[in-house]
Amino acid sequence: MDDRLTEGHDSIDGEDVEPSLTGLAVGVNPGGAPKVFIRTFGCQMNVYDSERMMEALAAHGYAQTGHIGDADLVILNTCHIREKAAEKVYSDLGRVRQVKEERGAAGHETVVAVVGCVAQAEGAEIAARAPVVDLVVGPQSYHRLPELIERSRSQTRTVVDTTFPEEDKFSRLPPRAPAHAVTAFLTVQEGCDKFCTFCVVPYTRGMEYSRPVADVEGEARRLVSSGVREITLLGQNVNAYHGDGPDGRPWSLAKLIRRLAQIEGLERLRYTTSHPGDMSEDLIAAHGEEAKLMPYLHLPFQAGADRILAAMNRKHTAGQYLDTVARIRKAQPEIALSTDIIVGFPGETEPEFAETLALVAEVGFAQAYSFKYSARPGTPAGKLADQVPDPVKTERLARLQELLERQQTAFNERCVGRTLPVLFDRPGKHPGQLVGRSPFLQAVHAEAAAGERGRILPVEILAFSPNSLVGVIRSA
Ligand code: SAH
Ligand code: SF4
Ligand code: F3S
Repeated sequence: MDDRLTEGHDSIDGEDVEPSLTGLAVGVNPGGAPKVFIRTFGCQMNVYDSERMMEALAAHGYAQTGHIGDADLVILNTCHIREKAAEKVYSDLGRVRQVKEERGAAGHETVVAVVGCVAQAEGAEIAARAPVVDLVVGPQSYHRLPELIERSRSQTRTVVDTTFPEEDKFSRLPPRAPAHAVTAFLTVQEGCDKFCTFCVVPYTRGMEYSRPVADVEGEARRLVSSGVREITLLGQNVNAYHGDGPDGRPWSLAKLIRRLAQIEGLERLRYTTSHPGDMSEDLIAAHGEEAKLMPYLHLPFQAGADRILAAMNRKHTAGQYLDTVARIRKAQPEIALSTDIIVGFPGETEPEFAETLALVAEVGFAQAYSFKYSARPGTPAGKLADQVPDPVKTERLARLQELLERQQTAFNERCVGRTLPVLFDRPGKHPGQLVGRSPFLQAVHAEAAAGERGRILPVEILAFSPNSLVGVIRSA
């Protein structure tokens, strides 16, 4: 994530991120296979879901295409977190309609599916607003996509499946296909029971659910055996993980991490996103003890004023957040901290916003994502009368981002002169270059042979920018 400080370019929800194709190359020799084009909005969990959807479709003979004009099936995997993210879907659907018409004129059928969190939140309303849509599928039922596509072919009305089925989608999906990547996401926990008053996630993703340890471990082993070296465990509330362990008891995230760390060939583990209230002592201890667990933690605090935190139903105060940070830093002094912050929650006064700035100044973040509050349908805060005017939110966001950018730049600058282990995971801009990640999740550019992709090499950091580092490989 190279534009980390701009609104919307965040780890959890990339509403403004150029919607991307998923990283999987499915369908080796497409031949006459039906083709699918998939666009992913939102958080890493959506990226993961898109990969799993592609795998499920590949098992039914579909091949992925990067050209929407070639696609027999167009999937938009959507995000509902802020208004801008949700509205983007409709502007995209306008373009999809054109494509569908052009293809139709040439005698080709195109099935259009809206999946993910907008699908869950709006259901059949989507088809009313955008009749181009054939299929609306929520995040808990996409394992049924192949059968739903068949159904939509035989009926003219839009097919809508936004149920939270009894069956668990993970057990219905085909096993993970071999990854073509060095790093991978692995969803271990879904949903949220916290009900922060601004947030749609409990409604779009449903109740908190943790996958059993054995499932997670099996999937991790498959990923590692196909070349993955770093796994990021995902969940909207990942540190509330409590999946069934092999001993029949619920295991904590810390216990899961220690188990996965034993997988040979797996070099690095990360997890996101965490709630401050669930930073248990065993997880904090793991940061000091488990070498494969990277010294990086995304820990949203949302606002600095206790009155606002209470109105948000965050269940923690600013003081408790600082105390948690202190305990984490005691266990792992090197840890790079990241966070999410909302400005202009209903009723937020200037002095209350100043408390947000003060909390940022006190903690010192290596990275952060900040947003203007967006009133969401169905959420308690969306109905509050004292909404903050947009120009005020814009101005506060600018001040906050100026401070965050200075902190991020300072953090990067402090890395200059150090030699950091970098996991090279993708080609650089120019031939002969690779890009990787430092332990602190910074992008690091270096001259390196293509064959070094997938390796962790010591890199002496020579230069920095607000968003990345440049270095030179030193022999191990
Ligand atoms: N589970 C995570 C984050 C989920 S959503 C947590 O508990 O923090 C990702 C981020 O989007 C949130 O941290 C919050 O900063 C932001 N966000 C959520 N709802 C929002 C809204 N209505 N307006 C603006 N930002 C919002
Ligand atoms: Fe949303 Fe709050 Fe749950 Fe995070 S903890 S997903 S912000 S309701
Ligand atoms: Fe967006 Fe849904 Fe993720 S609302 S942030 S895609 S959980």
